[in-house]
Amino acid sequence: MKVFKTISALRRTLYSLKREGKTIGLVPTMGALHEGHMSLVDASVKDCDVTVVSVFVNPIQFGKTEDLDKYPRRLKADAELAGSHGADFIFAPSVEEMYPNGDPLTLVRDETLESLYCGAYRPGHFRGVLTVVAKLFLITAANKAYFGEKDYQQAFLIQKMVKDLNFDVDIKISPIIREPSGLARSSRNEFLSEEDHRRAVCISAGLNAAKAAYAEGQRKVVPLRDMVVKAILVGGGLVQFVEVVSQKDLRAFASGVVDENEKSVILVAAYFGKTRLIDNIEL
Ligand code: PAF
Repeated sequence: MKVFKTISALRRTLYSLKREGKTIGLVPTMGALHEGHMSLVDASVKDCDVTVVSVFVNPIQFGKTEDLDKYPRRLKADAELAGSHGADFIFAPSVEEMYPNGDPLTLVRDETLESLYCGAYRPGHFRGVLTVVAKLFLITAANKAYFGEKDYQQAFLIQKMVKDLNFDVDIKISPIIREPSGLARSSRNEFLSEEDHRRAVCISAGLNAAKAAYAEGQRKVVPLRDMVVKAILVGGGLVQFVEVVSQKDLRAFASGVVDENEKSVILVAAYFGKTRLIDNIEL
């Protein structure tokens, strides 16, 4: 497993592999790798000749009061885990390598969706994500890039960016990997106290209950939403938002009723203690 720290060295290696006709798979991460990330690595290793895992805690996607300094960093363990799943390279640049002139003034933004749902509570988050992901696409010239469905809005925005800006990369979205309890795997789960960890199961329980109600014919947004809100409150969490939106454009159903002709998804963010967790379920 080779760890690259500089853009120029990674580029030299990847470009020469591409000239040999090899396909490059990119798994962008912020490290603290877990089974969810490994499902992305596994998919890339299966599809592509070469798999690069980027490990970069991207400062420009964190708000001033967020957990940038606290975010877990353990490159050695990450490299070992990714290597044991067949990844070829780690790209772990410093902040100075990625942003030599300080915070970049050239940014990729989605003007409408960046301020909804997660974006409403994390101003600037999605422009930080889109900017770093665009840079990673340009640095690696990857043929395919792998993202998790847990970050539903992120995955949607990245796919939209790729279409809007004609990036020559095939985006693959992998399903959420859950702990046996149902809790979605996340690097932030390790911030949860034992008790909050147990309680946070109520997020997926609420989502499953809403999905079951939908399957039985419930189409009204408010009762579907309330089932999730109640489950989280009873479980001892603090709801940030629960939204039932269209999978097509991530827009809420203005009529208050889920459109029969459209696929929908419930997006949720909630706090357990100081830890913010997100999850979703497609209906
Ligand atoms: O999902 C993440 O871990 C990050 O938002 C990403 C896509 C690696 C960009 O920093």
